[in-house]
Amino acid sequence: MRELNCHLYLADDYSALSRRAAELFAEEARTAVAKRGRFLVLLSGGETPRHCYELLSRKPLRALVPWHAAEIFWGDERFVPPGDPRNNARMAREAFLDHVPLSEGQIHPIPFRNSAHESAEQYQAQLLEFFAGAPPRFDLALLGLGDNGHTASLFPGTPVLDEKYRWVSEVALEDGQQRITLTVPVLNQSATVLFLVSGEGKAQVLHEVLEGTPNPQRLPAQLIRPEHGKLIWLADREAARMLTLQEGELSYGTK
Ligand code: 6PG
Repeated sequence: MRELNCHLYLADDYSALSRRAAELFAEEARTAVAKRGRFLVLLSGGETPRHCYELLSRKPLRALVPWHAAEIFWGDERFVPPGDPRNNARMAREAFLDHVPLSEGQIHPIPFRNSAHESAEQYQAQLLEFFAGAPPRFDLALLGLGDNGHTASLFPGTPVLDEKYRWVSEVALEDGQQRITLTVPVLNQSATVLFLVSGEGKAQVLHEVLEGTPNPQRLPAQLIRPEHGKLIWLADREAARMLTLQEGELSYGTK
């Protein structure tokens, strides 16, 4: 496995992790706008990013993000209507998107169509149009870590893990849930990938993903290796309690 520009940050607790994540979001936004004139970000779902999102809608961080140049996308979505409480886009709207100076045209949720496959195809078409022939390179991709090692909706043992060509795919889970997710090749185009991991419930899986023997089929988060970008793991002390690794540069994936 190729060496990677990877960094581990530790935060004292969930509140400190959320603040550091919001600061990193604002920094990456300003850097992207300074370099490329716009900030393309992939939001994550789940509970962990919620407070980070809330902090982005308040002083002082709200004023530190160049919202006028931001384009908001999602790394994955549950196949539920936009108004459903499980909908990732709904969570982000309520947490911050409805409270910051963004126009509806800057917000690109994964559409809810007749099937998860149709939703995936529609979002891929939207991304192809948005990137107009250029590779789908997001400035920042926010990701979480499930206690089974999944990230976005890249779940262990699912066919999407081997997807090489599609940018967006439907995912059928054993419990009957359906999801739509951006695929590994797209996520690995990102300039910066920021994993947020909080709570003792994630300690075992974080230890396995960062320090265990590589097994991406069982731990899909190990598939996230930005090709020309940096990878940041931001964890709180509870989530990091089984790690022997210290905060700092990580020689990730050399075993
Ligand atoms: C989702 C997410 C998913 C999430 C992990 C962690 O739609 O649920 O995108 O990948 O990040 O399941 O979820 P928690 O943050 O709730 O632990």
